[in-house]
Amino acid sequence: MNSTDAAKPAKGLFIRTYGCQMNVYDSERMRDVLRPLGYAPVDGPEDADLVVLNTCHIREKATEKVYSELGQLKKMKEASGGRMTIAVAGCVAQAEGEELIRRQPAVDLVLGPQAYHKLPEMIARVSRAVGDRLETEFETLEKFDALPKAREVDGPAAFLSVQEGCDKFCTFCVVPYTRGAELSRSVDDIVAEARGLAAQGVREITLLGQNVNAFHGAAPALEGGADWTLGQLCRHIAKIGGIDRIRYSTSHPRDMDDDLIAAHGDTSAMMPFLHLPVQSGSDRILKAMNRGHTAADFHEIIRKVRAARPDIGLASDFIVGFPGETDEDFEATMDLIRQTGFATAYSFKYSRRPGTPAAEMHGQVPEDVKDARLQALQSLLRDQQTTFNASCIGRTMDILVTGKGRRPGQIHGRSPYQQAVHFEGPESMIGQIASVRMIDSSMNSLTGECVSVREDAA
Ligand code: SAH
Ligand code: SF4
Ligand code: F3S
Repeated sequence: MNSTDAAKPAKGLFIRTYGCQMNVYDSERMRDVLRPLGYAPVDGPEDADLVVLNTCHIREKATEKVYSELGQLKKMKEASGGRMTIAVAGCVAQAEGEELIRRQPAVDLVLGPQAYHKLPEMIARVSRAVGDRLETEFETLEKFDALPKAREVDGPAAFLSVQEGCDKFCTFCVVPYTRGAELSRSVDDIVAEARGLAAQGVREITLLGQNVNAFHGAAPALEGGADWTLGQLCRHIAKIGGIDRIRYSTSHPRDMDDDLIAAHGDTSAMMPFLHLPVQSGSDRILKAMNRGHTAADFHEIIRKVRAARPDIGLASDFIVGFPGETDEDFEATMDLIRQTGFATAYSFKYSRRPGTPAAEMHGQVPEDVKDARLQALQSLLRDQQTTFNASCIGRTMDILVTGKGRRPGQIHGRSPYQQAVHFEGPESMIGQIASVRMIDSSMNSLTGECVSVREDAA
């Protein structure tokens, strides 16, 4: 914190983040926008002058959570004598707009994912009780241009959004409606942000996008030429001093090009981990989902990725109970999982989202069938995750130390495969990369012992 920040009276800020990593990134950037206005984070909403709910619209449950949280906040706002300002940001804000204020009048502000740079102006409007309380325009590049260049980050691993929005229109998904059309930031802009992160001690960057491998950002001004792909961007960021690890999330099978796959093999900073959502193993369902790829396409990508980087850890997303899904379709998904072998995965029951094509399809699957399929699928995925973690015992891996452990003397960090690893060591190692030998594993984490600390710390 610099001296001008310290001089201003602190106002309490509490941001609750739901949904994906892009919301996590956006919440951080909202803190950056509000810092110069004297807002400092507090531990809970009851101490806050401004509460922001950064929301997710992806499944019905996620959306309902927002309304129940707003009910709680309304009581706190009343108890504060109206001092608390309540803002709703994120994808529910984009999708519901004014309806949010109608349903919960305690809400002061509604702003969509492209409007965060306008927060100070909107807060001023609320305090003067004039002007619009709703901002849901789609101006992605303006957002990135207008957000403060300086970021304050906590810890050695950071997110960096490089692409927003989606043009794929999978028939189950709200993202193309809540985040708008696909847009990439320029390489110069991204590199400037990455350098700033490195200067603050960040050693691992996860490049984010709803469709991150569809990235096609303007080439560096000095080089000109055609737009860059994600593979080119990763290779370039790998050259920034201090950045030892690069990840990206989330990818689409249709955009998994050969150069990006090759980068996993020839760029040591690229972590051996790929999150590639497939959703289903049935070609019939994949077609109805408008995914634009088959199960065989997915297997072919995985074959190529493993050829480039044999030890790659794989993650994916699955939906069970999409309209029309039969037992046979579901078995095809189970087969795909058995044939591939995942290090970890996310799986969901299909949730009917108003306004999406699948919501109107025939053959909606009964809830109890969805439940049974999800249980079977998750049990298989849990077994695979446990097996993957156990296969790491005896190996020595580079662990980026991210924090203190639960027990005194213990610290923890992330393996190249994103696993949580606990081991004994001093707190002074936080932010460094340690060489750790794995001695025990469970479904969710590994335990290790430190062998050495890498000397080339930034
Ligand atoms: N852009 C990413 C994922 C975005 S949403 C991609 O294309 O893969 C994250 C995950 O939520 C999706 O991969 C999907 O598995 C799940 N999801 C999206 N809409 C859903 C719905 N209506 N019901 C259940 N799960 C859904
Ligand atoms: Fe949603 Fe499909 Fe776009 Fe992913 S690719 S964000 S699942 S529409
Ligand atoms: Fe949710 Fe929006 Fe992300 S709907 S998953 S917060 S893009």
